[in-house]
Amino acid sequence: MRASLGTVGVISACLISTSALANSSGITGQSGKDGATCNTCHSGGSAPTVEISGPATLAPSATGQYTLIIKGGAANVGGMNIAVDNAAAVLQAGEGSQKIGKEITHNGLKSFTNGELRFDFSLVAPASGSVKIFGAGNSANKNYDSSGDRSATTTLNVTVSGGTTPTEPDDEKGGCSATGGSPMLVFALAAATLTRLRRRQG
Ligand code: HEC
Repeated sequence: MRASLGTVGVISACLISTSALANSSGITGQSGKDGATCNTCHSGGSAPTVEISGPATLAPSATGQYTLIIKGGAANVGGMNIAVDNAAAVLQAGEGSQKIGKEITHNGLKSFTNGELRFDFSLVAPASGSVKIFGAGNSANKNYDSSGDRSATTTLNVTVSGGTTPTEPDDEKGGCSATGGSPMLVFALAAATLTRLRRRQG
């Protein structure tokens, strides 16, 4: 009984200390989607570059893997906030982040490695339409204050299209089109054979 009471105590202490650091432990409404960004409060540092990498097209209701990458600036610790403009799309937090409401944000101070900080997340596409992902990334100097830091924002448009049909191989990707062609040929031959067989039976 004593042990479990102790555990409860430790857990509540953690919860209290987390809420005391409300900003460094995560913040929403600052992705740039509604105008506000981290720079409302953070200033003084040089701006980082922020990008979201991941698929620009998703099949209906498919889950895509994305990464928000922050490079440069004070580059000691950082955080982020991601939101989408489509209520039917669902964001899922990856390591180092959490979901608050419909948005994603860091869950504590995250350290840069080799001048960059990455946050993985996923997006579950709606049944149709498109989704605009808004991301803000803050590059901070770890002085436990909002000075000497700066954020930047980015967006990525994701189109929902296709379905079970695989997308055409991209010509720019070189050799892919040749190899991509053969399964289609096999498929066409199989279809032709089936049609012939059916005709014979009928
Ligand atoms: C309303 C004002 C405000 C906004 C908006 C804000 N912050 Fe902060 N932030 C603070 C304050 C105050 C601190 C210092 C206290 C603390 O650590 O929570 C801080 C600290 C931080 C730190 C640690 C900074 C350091 O040098 O130690 C990070 C990282 C951070 N915020 C990330 C963000 C991100 C990412 C956003 C935007 C998505 C954001 N903040 C938006 C007020 C804000």
